[in-house]
Amino acid sequence: MVLFKSILAFFAVGLTLGSEFPSNETYSQNLLRESMAWMDMFYDADAGYLYDLDSNALVHGTRHSAWYAAGLLARNKHDDVEQALKITRNVISGQFKDPEKQWYGDYQIYPEEPTVGTDHYPAVMYNSWDPNWRGFIGTTFVLMMEEFPDLIPNDDQSLIIESLYNTSVGDSYRVGGVDGDNLYPAYSNPSIMRAFVSGWTGRKIGDANMTLAAETYASEVIELFERDNTLSEFNSGTYAGVSLYALTLWAKYMPEDSVMRQKGASMIKYTWETLSSLYNANIRNVAGPWDRSYGYDMTRYLSILALQIWTIIGKDKSPMNAKPYAMGHKGDFAIGPLVAILAPFHNSLLEKTSVPSTLLQFPGEHNVETTAFSPPFDTYPRNITAYLSANLTLGAETFSEDAIGGPATSANSFNPAVAQWLRPDGTVGWATYHPQVKSLVAIAGQGFLSLTYPDWQGGDKDNVGAFVILIGTNSPTGTRDITGWDGVEGVAVTITGNINMQPTISFNGIYGGAGEVINSFSVFEFWNFTYTVPSGITEAPNMMLQFKVKGE
Ligand SMILES: *[C@@H]1O[C@H](CO)[C@@H](O)[C@H](O)[C@H]1NC(C)=O
Ligand SMILES: *[C@@H]1O[C@H](CO)[C@@H](O)[C@H](O)[C@H]1NC(C)=O
Ligand SMILES: *[C@@H]1O[C@H](CO)[C@@H](O)[C@H](O)[C@H]1NC(C)=O
Ligand SMILES: *[C@@H]1O[C@H](CO)[C@@H](O)[C@H](O)[C@H]1NC(C)=O
Ligand SMILES: *[C@@H]1O[C@H](CO)[C@@H](O)[C@H](O)[C@H]1NC(C)=O
Ligand SMILES: *[C@@H]1O[C@H](CO)[C@@H](O)[C@H](O)[C@H]1NC(C)=O
Repeated sequence: MVLFKSILAFFAVGLTLGSEFPSNETYSQNLLRESMAWMDMFYDADAGYLYDLDSNALVHGTRHSAWYAAGLLARNKHDDVEQALKITRNVISGQFKDPEKQWYGDYQIYPEEPTVGTDHYPAVMYNSWDPNWRGFIGTTFVLMMEEFPDLIPNDDQSLIIESLYNTSVGDSYRVGGVDGDNLYPAYSNPSIMRAFVSGWTGRKIGDANMTLAAETYASEVIELFERDNTLSEFNSGTYAGVSLYALTLWAKYMPEDSVMRQKGASMIKYTWETLSSLYNANIRNVAGPWDRSYGYDMTRYLSILALQIWTIIGKDKSPMNAKPYAMGHKGDFAIGPLVAILAPFHNSLLEKTSVPSTLLQFPGEHNVETTAFSPPFDTYPRNITAYLSANLTLGAETFSEDAIGGPATSANSFNPAVAQWLRPDGTVGWATYHPQVKSLVAIAGQGFLSLTYPDWQGGDKDNVGAFVILIGTNSPTGTRDITGWDGVEGVAVTITGNINMQPTISFNGIYGGAGEVINSFSVFEFWNFTYTVPSGITEAPNMMLQFKVKGE
């Protein structure tokens, strides 16, 4: 019997996506096993790297290889540890070594890349090199050192610490607004990671300056957070997840004398309080507004926040498809091992809160009001309002910024006014305002979203020519072709305002239609309802959308 069990266990680990597994495993063990089984299929043991997780033909990738290495140490079966060390050495050998370069101490995006900063491969931040990978990979190395020191030989530990030292020095080159960098304390996820890696490394090697710089930087992040106990990078399925991951590192691994240790746990609790107040367990989504989103429905794109919810209430009740690797933005499944390793500690912080029960059961109709602030982009804190009922959520934020598309200057990921509703078949309908302005007054209330352009200057209709509303496609059983709100499944929408009432309607599909889909790693097709602003209006352009879920 014992032998039979261990044979099953062997096959479960080595060959399948988990047809056989210990029925007593915890949710976090379940996430670790499933995410590792998926990555095992991409592992190239000869190279000591994972292949790319998307469609780049048989090149490898650095960041998810590092995440996988941490998972290998956690799993620790067969030759897992040996492979983890091989990957770690590879990733560090590809770390940038010239302190004169802006990308010093950062890690390659992929090992096959040409030399960054050469004539034919210019250094373009967030393209040919990504400054945030210092944080993503640096935090992973610290986690490995903290959780599995007995599995890492001394030589490798020394190499990792040298790598962390270089990455911390390189990260100190980053100053928001200088050399094209955007790392302000308001850029929550890399800010939190940066403070952590420098603070941990400074202490480890006894570099008081590095430690002090980290504490000072963390204090700036904390001060901004404590303004209204919200992350500046507010409510993003992907990046709230990264911030929570990094705050967990603060709370778990920093010593008592660090401001990160002192504040980490409460920042996690406040963040979850806000997120859970916006969560609708019937719709399995966090209501808008979303500052940076890679999709419009968390049950269809894979968010890091959903992985955390998996560890709290279990996969089948979380916003996670049974086949995570079929979802949009599936590459983020690779962070599963880190989320799983930290889950027992992270989730213990939520034990005495209402968060787990709110994630399981919608507590009833309510409104949410809060603010988030991203200096220097915001001229004032963004005013956030949301309305949640059993089958409908509406969320909006009023803002005035110095760029279009929020601090990330991405109109495609900035969703300042969003509606989601539950359709009869249990799938999720959505509509989102697509921003093309620097200022918007957007308010969500009982059954409505109200949008106004405050910068309108009497008749200057070119300034703000239209309201663009993107709407998701119907469920598989709904009509495929939409000619007006009547065709949008599951919801009745009434439009009022001083706009042209007849929208221009177009469709952006995967294989055709009027234009491109929005995110190549997480494709959502959409209908585009554009309401133009007539000339000759006498008040600021305004549009009100009233929603009623059909059948209620
Ligand atoms: C599940 O059961 C196995 C075998 O009895 C045991 O080794 C393991 O520790 C258990 N895991 C948990 C989470 O209880
Ligand atoms: C760290 O940077 C130094 C240059 O400052 C370089 O010589 C060394 O190889 C780097 N170490 C690693 C592990 O990349
Ligand atoms: C001290 O740390 C700051 C911030 O990281 C850095 O700019 C500075 O060069 C460091 N000074 C020394 C002497 O290492
Ligand atoms: C934000 O909301 C508060 C109260 O909800 C209100 O007093 C303030 O005027 C609002 N600010 C903006 C810029 O809309
Ligand atoms: C919400 O939707 C479900 C399923 O379509 C339906 O049974 C229910 O009556 C709706 N209304 C409310 C208030 O839950
Ligand atoms: C939506 O349609 C309008 C008018 O046709 C167009 O100007 C705009 O670029 C479209 N937006 C998106 C995101 O497709």
